[in-house]
Amino acid sequence: MRVDGVSYRSVWVDQQDHRSIHIIDQTKLPWALEILRLTDCDQAAHAIRTMQVRGAPLIGAVAAYGLCLALAADPATAAMERDAALLAATRPTAVNLRWALERMLTRLRNTPASERVAVAYAEAAAIADEDAAQNEAIGEHGLPLIRQAAARHAGKTVNVLTHCNAGWLATVDWGTALAPIYKAHDAGIDLHVWVDETRPRNQGAALTAWELGRHGVKHTVVADNAGGHLMQHGMVDLAIVGTDRVTRTGDVANKIGTYLKALAAHDNAVPFWVALPSTTIDWRVSDGVAEIPIEERSQAEVTDMTGRLPDGRIATMRIAAEGSPAANPAFDVTPARLVTGLITERGRCQASAEGLRGLFPEHA
Ligand code: MRU
Repeated sequence: MRVDGVSYRSVWVDQQDHRSIHIIDQTKLPWALEILRLTDCDQAAHAIRTMQVRGAPLIGAVAAYGLCLALAADPATAAMERDAALLAATRPTAVNLRWALERMLTRLRNTPASERVAVAYAEAAAIADEDAAQNEAIGEHGLPLIRQAAARHAGKTVNVLTHCNAGWLATVDWGTALAPIYKAHDAGIDLHVWVDETRPRNQGAALTAWELGRHGVKHTVVADNAGGHLMQHGMVDLAIVGTDRVTRTGDVANKIGTYLKALAAHDNAVPFWVALPSTTIDWRVSDGVAEIPIEERSQAEVTDMTGRLPDGRIATMRIAAEGSPAANPAFDVTPARLVTGLITERGRCQASAEGLRGLFPEHA
């Protein structure tokens, strides 16, 4: 995607040394666009753990490149297995992390140590390129939903609600939930996006709003609790969200608060779509509520907030009562029955085992 006329992906290999990895430090957005250079596996693991990079598809790609950096330091099998385990342990919920590392290891275990570095960089580049292509395809398959909404009330703006950040920052390029929105905007459809701020880390207010603004898409940031009210008053034509893991039966794990939006959408007959590349499907899991591990993050993310002061300094301050503890589950699971459908790189389907098997018969 383009930022102020410059094309970016969210992760790329250094064009001089062909080894180190560049990322956009998402903890600095929306205040500054800062590029970080990662030169070893520990730095890549740190970037994922501390959410300098985040979003299911992107952490998969960065983990793949992290393994490349590990192999550049030591291509022996024992070190490779140890570093892959270190990367896999950085975050628990998004399945793309495990998927990317398993794909890398499957390729590398059958490769002599002397050839591993070159093979690893080629495989990581393939993962990144495929992610960008899959997300663009999601955009194409999601576009008709927005077109149909526009046709239903010609001459009026189409209102889409989204939660968290499932834009190009959360992937290698294009985004998942935002890909259809970018396609619709580029096709000249008059649309407007309600952006849930997405407490506690504010990925909506900080990242989605920033992305949409850079691309010129009309949007409004709303408090997370506003979505139900907007739907009741006919101010949302459809919701599109991303996901961190989808079970083979169509249950959807996504950023905390998604389930409440799905409930409100169901109550108000607002279509609730989930956009994902197939790398986000966990074919081993069938009951999302029981089986998907939910990351529990620091209390400070709830009790404190970070923002920019009028003088430009970035500051963190406590907003909760002193001494009160906080709980911080980072994801929730929306049961398949509340999901209108899934938008994948192969097309749209019902959120069900049959729907997914129809699009991906190789997993039947
Ligand atoms: O904790 P994060 O910011 O890494 O959360 C992941 C996400 O970006 C969202 O849950 C998103 O909606 C799905 S990933 C495209």
